Amino acid sequence: MNLITGENNKILRQKSKEVTQIDQEIHLLIQEMKKIMIENNGIGLAAIQLGIPKRVIVTYVNDKFRAFINPQIIKFSPETSSLIEGCLSLPGYWGEVERPEKITLRAISEQGKKIKLKAFGLLARVIQHEVDHLNGILFIDKAKEVHKESGKLNVL
Ligand code: CO
Repeated sequence: MNLITGENNKILRQKSKEVTQIDQEIHLLIQEMKKIMIENNGIGLAAIQLGIPKRVIVTYVNDKFRAFINPQIIKFSPETSSLIEGCLSLPGYWGEVERPEKITLRAISEQGKKIKLKAFGLLARVIQHEVDHLNGILFIDKAKEVHKESGKLNVL
């Protein structure tokens, strides 16, 4: 599978569908997402970035790999923070995005178990960025200003 890129790419604007069954196809998808994210030095990836409109995201924060199926953010903190974001689907673009600092996430694990996770800092940010992808939202929609140039970034 290949990364889907480009700010005008319609696939990235699609709303992804809930996963109804965690089967071999989902396990293979998660494996592929992990591989592509790590190969590209990313810290997060949504299935739609590989052209698969399923509600699956992966993250790689603090040397820990995580996969979430049907992630749902059920609580956002009123406190926010700003950080420069990039995106594997938008090579070279970066911008500062303000987001809630803490979230509570509900999801299903790759093993099919219900998860409830409280996250803050970078992990909370990456999860919010990836859940946005599932709803067809890109960080450039939320950034105060969007810049385009190469450089070393957090790529989500
Ligand atoms: Co992204």
